[in-house]
Formats: sequence, structure tokens, C-alpha cells
Amino acid sequence: MPRRRDARRWLLALGVGLVLVLTACAEDAPQDTLQPKGPEAQTIHNLIVPIFVVAGVVGLLVFAAVAFVMVKYRAGKFHAAEVPEQVHGNPKLEIGWTILPAIIMAVIAVPTVSVIFDLASKPSDAMEINVVGQQWWWEFDYPGTNVVTANEIVIPAGEPVVVNITSRDVIHSFWVPGLNGKKDAVPGRTSSITIQADEPGRFMGACTEYCGLSHANMRIVAVALAPDDFEEWLANQETAAAEPTGADAQAGLAVFNGRGCGACHMINGEGITQQPQAVPLVPGAAPNLTHLMSRDVFAGAMFALKNPDGTLNRPLLEAWLRNSPAMKPMYPVGGRGMPAQGLTEQQIDELVAYLSTLK
Ligand code: CUA
Repeated sequence: MPRRRDARRWLLALGVGLVLVLTACAEDAPQDTLQPKGPEAQTIHNLIVPIFVVAGVVGLLVFAAVAFVMVKYRAGKFHAAEVPEQVHGNPKLEIGWTILPAIIMAVIAVPTVSVIFDLASKPSDAMEINVVGQQWWWEFDYPGTNVVTANEIVIPAGEPVVVNITSRDVIHSFWVPGLNGKKDAVPGRTSSITIQADEPGRFMGACTEYCGLSHANMRIVAVALAPDDFEEWLANQETAAAEPTGADAQAGLAVFNGRGCGACHMINGEGITQQPQAVPLVPGAAPNLTHLMSRDVFAGAMFALKNPDGTLNRPLLEAWLRNSPAMKPMYPVGGRGMPAQGLTEQQIDELVAYLSTLK
């Protein structure tokens, strides 16, 4: 009977262990730390692998030794209630297990320190992008241009890009694991890292420092374009938004202005009323919408702005305009996040018509 109970216990332990291990598996893992997509991430990867092997071997040896001692010297079956022979002190062993870890740490420190210096060195002629984290989205501005965008950081593939990271409110952390490690976004401070993507593509990232209610809804998409496509993208971003011509879109612009959307959302262009002082907010308190439709995601890269065929994902954008806090938790006061606007369905249609012109 006890034997059967023992077997059941082992099975249960095995089952729990398996479940824990299997939860780490995913078929589609766009934010996989172990799949470097650029030289900086590759540098980190080249350090992780050997250190993981060393740590893994040490871990296995320790677990094996503990299991061996537990089984061999357990009370009961083999030794009844006898007290095992008591030993105190074994200078050889003690010196050994003090020195050995010190040697392992010293050996591991050599490549670690070298990688730290590698990653800290800033390529002198690289393009730079300023990154500003805030509750709960990312702003990207391109120095030397008037380009300010959000949520999608667009870079040329195959070139190093220095990102200068800061925050407008609390501490966030910028992390696109395919392109480099993470870097905190600290208000009043700027920290730089270099990112580079080997190939064009979209690389997922996220805020990795708890920053309040919607921390889990603060994603990043790094979009690497072929150099020619990047130049084309940049040229388009530098243009101002044209004043809308259609009746619906014009009505939408009137809603935008009448509602004071420009208090937080900047749009560079004609006919837009920016009211930066209407509510006590920092400038750029919400994503710049000048070229909203050039992006595939919105609201902290949480929602798809486009359908797979590239057309507007109208129901989702309408739902956002109808009741944004229902889609993404935000503080109702204090201007962190977009409050519910109480718009009529007609106003929502008109706003969508206007926003659709911001290509
Ligand atoms: Cu921003 Cu967490």
C-alpha cells in the first residue's frame, strides 16, 4: 500500500514538473529572447549560451548530489530512527567548494565584462532616435527632422541605430529582445543603446518595468525597412497633414478641434487647433497622429489598426473612440491615458473619416 502511494506521489511531482516546463513552450513566440535578429542581440546570445551551459552543469550536479544524499541518508526504511554519524569540518572539502565557485565566477566574468563594454560602445556615425516612454505608450522622434511618431519605431535594416531613451513620467523599460537587451527609461535621464536588425521585419517588444495600471499594455514594435523603403517612409513622415476635403472628414476635423483632442494628440498640419494648455499635461501627452495611418498598431501597440490586407480595422478604431478605457485600463483622472469621450456614433464616423486621411 505505501509503495503505491509513493508511486502516486512521484507521478504527481513528475506531472507538475512537466506542466511547468511545458508552459515555457510556444509555437509562435515573436518576443523570444533566444532568437537574436541583429548583432547586439547576437552578442548577448553568444554570452548567454556558454554561461547557461556552465550554470546548467553546476545546477544538475548540485541537484544530483542533494537527491543522492536525501535518498541514501533518509531516516526510516534504512536506518530506522538512528541518528546518523555526526561529522564536523572537512577543511579539504570546505576550501574546495569555496575556491571552485570563485574560479568559475572569475572565468565567467571575462566574457561578461567584455560584452558589457561592447554593448556600451556607441557607433559614432549611427543614426539616432529619441525614445520617450510614458503611461502607456512609446514616442519616437527623429532628431534633425520634424518626425514624431508612436508605438512603431521604424529603422533602416542592416544599420546600427542609437536609441536615446528617457521617460515623461515614471520609470519604464525599453526592450525589443530580438535587437538588444533592455534599458530603463528614467525621467530626467537619457540612456542610450544601439539596436540593429539584420533583415527587414517587425520585431515585438514591450515595457519591462512596472509602470502602473496598463504596464502590461505598453508594447513596442520595431519595424526594420530596407534602406530605400526607410528613406521613403521618412520623407512621407516629414510632410504635414493636408487639410481634409471630403465633408465627413472635414466634420471629423471639426470634432477633433471642438473636443480639444489637440490638447494631447499633436497633428502637424493645416487647420488643426493644438491646445497644449487646455489640461495640465506635458506636451506630447498622447501619440502624434500626423501619419497615424502609416502605422499598423495603436494604443501602445496593443491593437491592430489594419486588417491583414492593409485596410483600416474600422471596428476596433471605432470601439476605441467609443470607450477607450474599456479596451485598455487607464487612470480616469490625471491625464494618464485617454478618457472616454462620450462621442455620438455620427461623431465617431466623422472622426474615423478624418483620421483615415492621416496617411
Ligand atoms: Cu511602461 Cu511598464
